[in-house]
Amino acid sequence: MTSCARILIPALLAALCGCAGAPRMQAPSAQTGPALIPLPVKMTARPGHFRLDGSTVTASSGEAEEVAEYVAQLIRRGTGWQLARAAGVPPDSNAIVLELTGSPAASDAEGYTLEITPQRILIKAARPAGLFYGVQTLRQLWPAAWEGPAPAVQAEPARIPCLVINDQPRYSWRGGHLDVCRHFFPIEFIYRYIDYLAMNKMNTFHWHLTDDQGWRIEIKKYPLLTEVGGWRVDRSGDHWNKRAPQQPGEKATYGGYYSQEEIRAVVEYASSRFITIVPEIEMPAHAGAALAAYPRFSCTGGPFTVPPGGVWPIVNLYCAGDDTTFSFLQDILDEVIGLFPGDYIHIGGDEADKSEWKKCPKCQARIRTENLGDETGLQSYMIRRMEGYLHSRGKRIIGWDEILEGGLAPRAAVMSWRGMQGGIDAARADHDVVMTPTDYCYFDYYQGPADFEPLSIGGYIPIETVYAFEPTPASLDEKQAKHILGCQANLWTEFIATPEHAEYMLFPRLLAMAEVAWSPKSSRGWDHFLDRLTAFLPRLEAMGVNYSRSLYSVKPVLERSSDGRSALVALKSPAPFAVIHYTLDGAEPTAASPRYESPITLQGSSTIKAGLFLDGALQGRIVAVPFLVHKASGQKVTYTHPWSDRYQAAGPTALVDGLTGSKNYNDGSWQGFEQHDLEVVIDLGREMEIRRVSSSYLEDFGSWIFAPREVSYAFSDKGKEFQTLAVLPGGGIQDGNEITIHHFGRDFSNVRARYLKVTAKNIGVCPPDHAGAGGKAWLFVDEIIVE
Ligand code: ACM
Ligand code: ZN
Repeated sequence: MTSCARILIPALLAALCGCAGAPRMQAPSAQTGPALIPLPVKMTARPGHFRLDGSTVTASSGEAEEVAEYVAQLIRRGTGWQLARAAGVPPDSNAIVLELTGSPAASDAEGYTLEITPQRILIKAARPAGLFYGVQTLRQLWPAAWEGPAPAVQAEPARIPCLVINDQPRYSWRGGHLDVCRHFFPIEFIYRYIDYLAMNKMNTFHWHLTDDQGWRIEIKKYPLLTEVGGWRVDRSGDHWNKRAPQQPGEKATYGGYYSQEEIRAVVEYASSRFITIVPEIEMPAHAGAALAAYPRFSCTGGPFTVPPGGVWPIVNLYCAGDDTTFSFLQDILDEVIGLFPGDYIHIGGDEADKSEWKKCPKCQARIRTENLGDETGLQSYMIRRMEGYLHSRGKRIIGWDEILEGGLAPRAAVMSWRGMQGGIDAARADHDVVMTPTDYCYFDYYQGPADFEPLSIGGYIPIETVYAFEPTPASLDEKQAKHILGCQANLWTEFIATPEHAEYMLFPRLLAMAEVAWSPKSSRGWDHFLDRLTAFLPRLEAMGVNYSRSLYSVKPVLERSSDGRSALVALKSPAPFAVIHYTLDGAEPTAASPRYESPITLQGSSTIKAGLFLDGALQGRIVAVPFLVHKASGQKVTYTHPWSDRYQAAGPTALVDGLTGSKNYNDGSWQGFEQHDLEVVIDLGREMEIRRVSSSYLEDFGSWIFAPREVSYAFSDKGKEFQTLAVLPGGGIQDGNEITIHHFGRDFSNVRARYLKVTAKNIGVCPPDHAGAGGKAWLFVDEIIVE
């Protein structure tokens, strides 16, 4: 059992995510004016300000009234003021005026103009959605304190800067996804998530409602889906991928589900925030909870229990050979259609291991009678059949990019997650696409150094990487590019059990995704965004959002001298406006510690600790960089097998450069070997006494990096014949997502030698139950320390 394949192949990540030094994009836009996210298409600052206070009135009519009531409600919550509504002709002073222009052009559906003069705030839009987004912009112009959960005791009038904004979104699908199956989230958090999306001008909530570990939507015709499928045994003390299944007689106590009544209320609320909910009902895989409730719709007939943790590979599928399965799924979808008025239903389609289909007589009969060729054809058949049904009921399907395999169903839209290629293929075949590749859009991945972050599924997607995302591939022509509906942040929750943790993973990365989805590509600029983000954070603070400060950690860049005995450390700040303080004596840096000005030379073994400070307060975490000087420092290393050019670290000196790696395999200290063993000889320059040798290896199961099977140390005086004096066995494969650094050390007595041979055996290929089973395994080593 391991996690599913939402993991990274290291090579992909290095190629795509720009982790080692985020790309600095073009200079910030020439726009001046207040800090807004997402950046509007066009903004012109004007002199003066509008005074917003308790005497300000709102003016609106027709469909605009609901949005006017919304803005009044926001102000009431922030200040306690009950703004009056102007009757009749909008007043020309001290008013917030919302006006619908009624333009029929579809492209105007979400755009707006916002004009602020000393006399009034005027928001104009073709449709109410545009007015709503104008209000979201206005919100960022009033005090952050107004965003608190309770009104300020005595709110001060706000000075709203005069300006003119013309704005409209780049993409029509600006999505946020939430997996409520791996962990159940209370309905209050669903409302909050919808508010977070709306505040960021996002318009689609992808609600992942069914999966192996839980079925979360009440279906009246099949009550066991929630009575049985909504609950699993609570193994929260154990690692997600090492959870024992439910035992006979054991009660399932962890879980929950949303009643249809609750869902209707959420849908209505989302609609008032101009958010469409796309429900996901997974098939043919990720169906473990449903099959625990109704095993007769599987190939084997079960019995099954709801798994309390990771399942891999996912072999328990709906039986696609049995027509009753289709009736069951259609009945479910009938109820889903009745609840969700949006155009799309997401039918999943990802990660189905078809080995049970291979063995199932009914599935095999279907493959023969329908001439489907193989099991991939059967999956395609199933999706096409469901598409046909949903189409007949007025709905469109969207599915993960696996639905391309075996032939795409007509009209189906594709959600491209295993990179961009699925989306490219679909767009070329004239299908709509939502881009949500793991390398940029998976918010369950680490956003800061794994050493500091809460345990996550793996990967590394700092906010700079999200910001660098370009959803429309350059390889598409203009017509094909129109099929890219937009992009989406995905929040899978295997490792996220609470709303607070979900907020931590979402923020501030969601702000970056919002700008990618809304703002013109040409206006994006990281430095400018970072300034605006920093100005935005007090709003999140006021809202009580548990956002991550991981962005504000110092990034050390080390260069060592060629003799390996000293190192030059540059401390990079992601936030140019913050200052760095550091120590060299092991103490935690404070605002009173030396301020970093220019690279620092470390002589001999030492540790530099550094932190980023804003107005004297520590932001993010203290970063510690140990530098080691030992007997092999800077000595010549000869390799039997080459290191991978994707993970070179410092190349020929990487193993004797005094630098040890962090839990981030891509931090520049780890040298990677793809499938090969590590076998190196270090020439110490002269014969000397050796008391201890140690070397360290990274294990990051989710990134296909494994600890060695065995490490050995051998010695020689001439470099020809080696005597092996230590053979240290590896600890086996951990089968979890915990990232671990394994140290293999051995003390020696009476050993004198000039040459040391270090061998670390790569496990070769990923183990059978791994997502990359049979693929090349990686071995990562950072330093060989000789004392
Ligand atoms: C997915 O992440 N399995 C779609
Ligand atoms: Zn079957």
